[in-house]
Amino acid sequence: MKLIFLGPPGAGKGTQATGVSSHLRVPHISTGDMFRSAIKNQTPTGLEAKRYMDAGQLVPDSVVIAMVEERLAMEDCANGYLLDGFPRTVEQAEALEKIAAPDAVIDIEVPDEKLLDRLTGRRVCTKCSGTFHISKLADEKLCPVCGGELYQRDDDKPATISNRLNVYHAQTAPLIGYYAGLGRLKRIDGDDRPEDVFHKILSSLE
Ligand code: AP5
Ligand code: MG
Repeated sequence: MKLIFLGPPGAGKGTQATGVSSHLRVPHISTGDMFRSAIKNQTPTGLEAKRYMDAGQLVPDSVVIAMVEERLAMEDCANGYLLDGFPRTVEQAEALEKIAAPDAVIDIEVPDEKLLDRLTGRRVCTKCSGTFHISKLADEKLCPVCGGELYQRDDDKPATISNRLNVYHAQTAPLIGYYAGLGRLKRIDGDDRPEDVFHKILSSLE
């Protein structure tokens, strides 16, 4: 199964990808996570990506497409993939059609007014990469799963979040029409409990 998770920042793509990728036995490939890891390792790609990410802008198509093409050529993608955060422009979607066209595209939909709270309250574990919301944490700094230290993403500040939402509506939302036109789009109401969103995603794929 070759699957894409589309949806605005904070829709729950990363949260849902963990369970769905293990259920489908395909690797979870998040371009945002790949860039954050490249930044941590100070690679040339990471250094280039950082200035765009900090501003809430998209990293140039040529950089992202080359990175994804290389990743999809790896052995663990032989049975498919779950792409989270790619494609984000029509140019990226057209490139993916030539590399390994997706079977289905899940659009996780959440109203903008809910996204700001989800993103400003998000905390991520430095050790296991688990994602949480402060409203569900007993201790804002301690991972409830592995005990690792929690941090706030640099781009989860209100000013950057507002740029990311604008960029999503201008450059990524047109992909909803693009994939609907190809007959591969499945729309999911993401404004629901995480476990219910998970079941809706799996049912849509049956
Ligand atoms: P990326 O890391 O992909 O960020 P994003 O798309 O902005 O999405 P997020 O990771 O912020 O949200 P999510 O949908 O994964 O939500 P999550 O599950 O964490 O990209 C970062 C940057 O990298 C981009 O801005 C860009 O610069 C660059 N980049 C990446 N890919 C690129 C590309 N293809 N082209 C160009 N540039 C690219 O959940 C969020 C919060 O909500 C958490 O607190 C969570 O606990 C909570 N939550 C989740 N589900 C629910 C629920 N059902 N109910 C209540 N709360 C929930
Ligand atoms: Mg994510």
